[in-house]
Amino acid sequence: MHEPVLLKEVLENLLTSKSGIYLDATVGTGGHAQAIVSQLEPGGKLICMDRDESLLEIAKKRLKKYRDRVEFAHLRFSQMKDLVSGLKVKKISGFLFDLGVCSLHFCGE
Ligand SMILES: C[S@@+](CC[C@H](N)C(=O)[O-])C[C@H]1O[C@@H](n2cnc3c(N)ncnc32)[C@H](O)[C@@H]1O
Repeated sequence: MHEPVLLKEVLENLLTSKSGIYLDATVGTGGHAQAIVSQLEPGGKLICMDRDESLLEIAKKRLKKYRDRVEFAHLRFSQMKDLVSGLKVKKISGFLFDLGVCSLHFCGE
């Protein structure tokens, strides 16, 4: 499984409001996402996006128990504007772009 990088730093700097709405634009297998949603309070939500459908499926299974606070989108960065405008929310509290490579793209599971 892919190890999320700078996890402590991401949590400290991204989660400014635990009832906020966040977008993980590179959810991959959901390592960062799992740590983020586990800290969200009622009203909080994480939108999980990735261009790779097979990784998104892994993230969906991993985040199953948090289904009340996650949504998934199989999209690319170039389609993000439509995703965000379709959410009909006043504010997104934070975006995560983990622009490294996913180890599964090189070595498999
Ligand atoms: C380093 S991995 C993310 C790992 C993830 N943070 C985790 O904890 O498992 C980077 C991800 O970015 C995704 N990605 C790359 N280009 C993208 C694009 N244009 N739009 C959406 N996702 C993209 C890849 O499919 C890959 O899953």
